[in-house]
Amino acid sequence: MPRIAYVNGRYVAHADAFVHIEDRGYQFADGVYEVCEVARGFIVDMPRHLGRLNRSLTELSIDWPVTRGVLPIILREVVRRNHVTDGLVYLQVTRGVASRDFVFPAGTKPSLVVTARKADPAAAAKRAEGGIKVLTVPENRWDRVDIKSVGLLPNVLAKQKAKEAGAQEAWFIDADGTVKEGGSSNAWIITRDGVLVTRPAEHGILRGITRTTLFEVAAKLGLKIEERGFSVAEAKAAREVFISSATTIAMPVVAIDGAPVANGHPGSITLSLRQAFFDVAEKSPA
Ligand code: PDD
Repeated sequence: MPRIAYVNGRYVAHADAFVHIEDRGYQFADGVYEVCEVARGFIVDMPRHLGRLNRSLTELSIDWPVTRGVLPIILREVVRRNHVTDGLVYLQVTRGVASRDFVFPAGTKPSLVVTARKADPAAAAKRAEGGIKVLTVPENRWDRVDIKSVGLLPNVLAKQKAKEAGAQEAWFIDADGTVKEGGSSNAWIITRDGVLVTRPAEHGILRGITRTTLFEVAAKLGLKIEERGFSVAEAKAAREVFISSATTIAMPVVAIDGAPVANGHPGSITLSLRQAFFDVAEKSPA
């Protein structure tokens, strides 16, 4: 079954899906994106993802490429045409195609690309059973990581470094020694008293949609959450550690910089958050 992509108004074979060489996403990383999980035939938390997309576009003064009402139809159509029941749908909006000049071009239409791809839920469940390892790296990103920009080179380099060290995620560490977030996920710990701790999202991290929904999952499970910074040392001594993102949900972390977290096995609270997630998350039929 050939994969299909949406590119600026057309559904095309994935192999023939192109944008122009002077697209500002390609030349300046002048664009934003969203990744929604597709689970059991539903697009997960789509309204929240579109709300964050709106914020990213507004912060960068990029116009919506289509109306806000039409985008869900395109997302669903790409998911449907690719027969994705479990996997993800990716959307990217750039400022559009224009002769290379740093300042905003006048009258350029934003570019919209949407792709979808399958993932194996059994493989994700297996990964959660074993947990993942994290490598810490110094924060070296710009100040506006609250915008979901396609400018991800520091994240690429950090995650490559993590991979070379046998880890599956990199954690950016602030100058004051506190954990900011992962290369493509938010960071959490659970204290000895069973309290969930995650850094406030007003500044310095991306406000993860999964993170937001996990606040509701935690409330349902009667778990307390503290929004505050935590150090690498506190994480290493925590009862449980996990990351969250659309593609990982709540994923246990079993080692940080080669040192085991707790007994080196996934924690039960993280697994219960993971299990309860889909009962709480908003599910739009795909
Ligand atoms: N990344 N922080 C960063 C830097 C991220 O890139 C992501 C998501 C998150 C979690 O956000 P959410 O819960 O909305 O997925 C936090 C996506 C999955 C990616 O780039 O592939």
